[in-house]
Amino acid sequence: MHITALYPGTFDPITNGHSDIIERAARLFDRVIVAIAANAKKQPAFTLEERITLAREALTGLSNVEVCGFDSLLADYVQQRDAQVILRGLRAVSDFEYEFQLAGMNRRLAPRVETLFLTPAENYAFISSSLVKEVASLGGDVSAFVHPKVLAALENRLR
Ligand code: COA
Repeated sequence: MHITALYPGTFDPITNGHSDIIERAARLFDRVIVAIAANAKKQPAFTLEERITLAREALTGLSNVEVCGFDSLLADYVQQRDAQVILRGLRAVSDFEYEFQLAGMNRRLAPRVETLFLTPAENYAFISSSLVKEVASLGGDVSAFVHPKVLAALENRLR
């Protein structure tokens, strides 16, 4: 059976923590779709097009990984793309409550789709896109947490 996993998120911007999850998923599933939500309510620092470009640059070399944007209900989009799995990363216990709600709602909306969780390497467990943006905007070094292209984009956007 051919399994496609869809990894949704805002990816504002993609971090090495996200890439770590995606690399793990690429070894487990036939195809991984990184689905970048427009998510205007989060008021992203990067446009959807910019977030897609940065994710593609950070993920070059992963042949079974595709990056795309979406601006609809996740449960609809996952079915539209013929994915069987919604993939989410769990970094800490604090992620769990929100993820449990999201998985429950998505199961009601798309009962045949399973949500699966992967944990990133422990050195990425404390990273989030917001924290990376905050540290970068105050002149801190975030080069260990993002791809060099993302680092350059952060420097352009936030300084
Ligand atoms: N490494 C580093 N950071 C990680 C991470 C990892 N492995 N996994 C999650 N994060 C961080 C993200 O960077 C983000 O940080 P931030 O809030 O500081 O920016 C945070 O954890 C969680 O964000 P993200 O994973 O992007 O998810 P989200 O909560 O922003 O978005 C969607 C969740 C996109 C899945 C959800 O909004 C959605 O489904 N939207 C579509 C509309 C819809 O269907 N809504 C109903 C849902 S039931």
